Amino acid sequence: MRIASITVRLALFFSTASLLVLLAIGYLIGNAVGRHFEEQDLHELHAKLVLIRHVLATVRSQGDLDEAGRRLNEALIGHHGLSITVLGPHRRVLFASREAAFPDNLLESRPSDEHIRTTDLVVWSKGGETYRGIAAAAFTSMQDMPPATALLALNIGHHLEFMSAFRKSLWLAIVSGILLTVLLGWIAARRGLLPLRDMVQVAHGISASRLDRRLQLDEVPTELLDLATAFNQMLDRLQDSFKRLSDFSSDLAHELRTPISNLMTESQVVLSRARSADEYREVLYSNLEEYDRLARMISDMLFLAKADHGLIALRSEPVDLAKEVRQLFEFYEALSDEQGVRLALEGEGMANGDDLMLRRALSNLLSNALRHTPREGAITVSISRASTGEMLIAVENTGQTISPEHLPRLFDRFYQVDPSRHRTHEGAGLGLAITKSIIDAHGGKISVTSENGLTRFVMAIPAVTPP
Ligand SMILES: Nc1ncnc2c1ncn2[C@@H]1O[C@H](COP(=O)(O)OP(=O)(O)OP(=O)(O)O)[C@@H](O)[C@H]1O
Ligand SMILES: [Mg+2]
Repeated sequence: MRIASITVRLALFFSTASLLVLLAIGYLIGNAVGRHFEEQDLHELHAKLVLIRHVLATVRSQGDLDEAGRRLNEALIGHHGLSITVLGPHRRVLFASREAAFPDNLLESRPSDEHIRTTDLVVWSKGGETYRGIAAAAFTSMQDMPPATALLALNIGHHLEFMSAFRKSLWLAIVSGILLTVLLGWIAARRGLLPLRDMVQVAHGISASRLDRRLQLDEVPTELLDLATAFNQMLDRLQDSFKRLSDFSSDLAHELRTPISNLMTESQVVLSRARSADEYREVLYSNLEEYDRLARMISDMLFLAKADHGLIALRSEPVDLAKEVRQLFEFYEALSDEQGVRLALEGEGMANGDDLMLRRALSNLLSNALRHTPREGAITVSISRASTGEMLIAVENTGQTISPEHLPRLFDRFYQVDPSRHRTHEGAGLGLAITKSIIDAHGGKISVTSENGLTRFVMAIPAVTPP
């Protein structure tokens, strides 16, 4: 399943988060306002209760009771929404401010004594009105008279109306808040992802002829920096490979053109007039050399192309490296004697691989070394085991140091340090490329160093693990 767009996901996340936060805030505010009104009502009822208790405390005789009723009436004039009833023993009404509709449960509840609390408050509805009330004990100063019960109620219709209007606007604010965060979240996510769209633009603009375009890293947000860097690095690698590839094809054309134009010129010269049989034979011999060179180059190229596609069939068997080197030394002996170059072998070891391929790789290194070692020089092949386990075969020769800028490119196809020299020998600059692809196919590594007149190629290939 396709993952939903990041923008949608972020917007959804924002809206859910804001929904939860705003709901919680809304709930808390609603509750706080409700509690505030409750406290306010309690406060008001308490003030009236104090008044009632004060008046009743002055009652000493039956006559005082009527006087007390009158005083209470006076004190409560103008208090709309407030109902008060004072009950004596046997629920005898001692005073009633108006026909207050007190519910039975309040009448029957145990009246609270000195202090009244919000928990003592009772809410009820009657005749379309809602009341909040309380029952509390009030003492007279009459002997043998049990405490009276003061019932107080406030009409809280106004409060309820206000609360419902307040809740409505609170929810409206919350809903618009949520919608707004969704919208803002969506906009923020879209803006935040703009750099991604820039990347897409750059990617669209890239073609074989325009591989030099890169992302501006200083404009990329931190989260995308890794991606952008990897993207740029990928482009670097692509550009490099592409350059090598196009260099390779132009080198290839160049390499093929020279021998073929040589052949053509020679043929034209010979054909320009009648020749003796010996002359024709001589020209054909010389042509044969060029054909040979061409054929070798083409088979090298084919080998490399196969290696590129992993089509080289490699045998995997124990190879006695010292034996291979000794055989190659025998093969090159005549040449090295003639050039006055000493060949030496140090160490021995078994590697795991294809003997013919490894011999070819070694042979390329040796033929290069022979070509570049001056008279009285020496070529040393040393075989050893690396601490990491693989076999190391080092081919070292005395002679000119290769300057460092050439070293990384030595294994490139057709790369030659001094191309002007290349006419003097048959090489096309493919030897090291082939050696490298053979070592790569073995899962090994090849490296080169050249310092103080010593050039050293080191191949690391898997060793035979003892059974
Ligand atoms: N031992 C060495 N000492 C100095 N330079 C070397 C040595 N081996 C290789 N080179 C340099 O590396 C270049 C590439 O070598 P490579 O074997 O790939 O090509 P080549 O020998 O010129 O041609 P080919 O091997 O195809 O006949 C050579 O042209 C040479 O300049
Ligand atoms: Mg070579």
